[in-house]
Amino acid sequence: MATAADFNLGEFTFPRGWFMIAEANELDDGPIGVRFFGNDFALYRGGSGKVVLLDAYCAHMGTHIAESKSASIVINNEQIEGDSIRCPYHGWRYTPEGQVDDIPYFDGPCPKAGAIKSYTVVEQYGAIFMWHCPEGLEPDHELPAVPVWDDPQWINGSYDHLGELEMHPQEIIDNMADAHHLGPTHGAPCEYFENEYLDHVYYQRQGGFHRMYNAYLTTLTWYTGPGLLVSKQRFGEADGFEFIFNTPIDDGKVKAWHNNISRAPNAEPTEQDVANAKMAQEGALAAFAQDFQIWSNKRPALKIMATPVEGNFRLGRIWYKQFYNPRAQAGDFHEKVNGKHHLRTLPPPGELAAELEA
Ligand code: FES
Ligand SMILES: [Fe+2]
Repeated sequence: MATAADFNLGEFTFPRGWFMIAEANELDDGPIGVRFFGNDFALYRGGSGKVVLLDAYCAHMGTHIAESKSASIVINNEQIEGDSIRCPYHGWRYTPEGQVDDIPYFDGPCPKAGAIKSYTVVEQYGAIFMWHCPEGLEPDHELPAVPVWDDPQWINGSYDHLGELEMHPQEIIDNMADAHHLGPTHGAPCEYFENEYLDHVYYQRQGGFHRMYNAYLTTLTWYTGPGLLVSKQRFGEADGFEFIFNTPIDDGKVKAWHNNISRAPNAEPTEQDVANAKMAQEGALAAFAQDFQIWSNKRPALKIMATPVEGNFRLGRIWYKQFYNPRAQAGDFHEKVNGKHHLRTLPPPGELAAELEA
């Protein structure tokens, strides 16, 4: 397992950005504990529907606030009060901002030092996303916009879980520059290829004939920050979006989710349309699983033995470093990579790609 320091990523152990931390429906049965960024969190939905993310451990005696399914206040549905949560051990109550505002057996003022940290979260795309910043700064960009998520003609899948990877997410990002794995790994060698960097966004445009499905595949893929990949795809006549979200668990260990949404041919999708969308998702998942299996078994590529036609790996790694260094330095990384980059072996995108982008 290789760490952020092994990859020489910068000052921080974990990157800045928006990251998926749970599927929304995981909160249906009450609070859950999650672990990301080397930290334990309590995640729950308050009475108003608001999602709250707090540091996990109660200031009183260190109890994990979200990891009791058997305490009396939990089984009697008394743990959540409005948008606040009570610790299952002695019932101290925490506001969504993380302040202790009630101790059931003590009338005096609640200790200010009992406050635990609360984090910015957003619910979108059937998932919960947190803003993670090692400097404690507020978000400087939004989640990627996929407006068709709310369009009934577009069929939304649920998230696929392939498990956790003992691999640094750097190597997931490397995939964006990796034109020459598309043939051997995915059976769809690309015919054109382009990477583009624009500050915190990293694009890939590529297309080629897919051997297994006998159809032409055109994709516009982009990372919004280091954790959220969205790919707009046209496969033969079918349009879809694929999501691949990665979130560090510990240094050198990452969790990844996969999802797919596709446009039904009918404005009101039929049962057949839904079945076809499910098949499309399975196909996309199978393709992602091809990468995932390789990642699950590889040794770390701290240095890539790149041939002279694989220069984009180097640029992708520079782009990724901006998130491991103070935000004030991000401009230095943008200056080094911003713009379009091509490979000597493959032509840049043509009309097909422009059509997809429109
Ligand atoms: S440990 Fe949380 S209230 Fe006592
Ligand atoms: Fe891949």
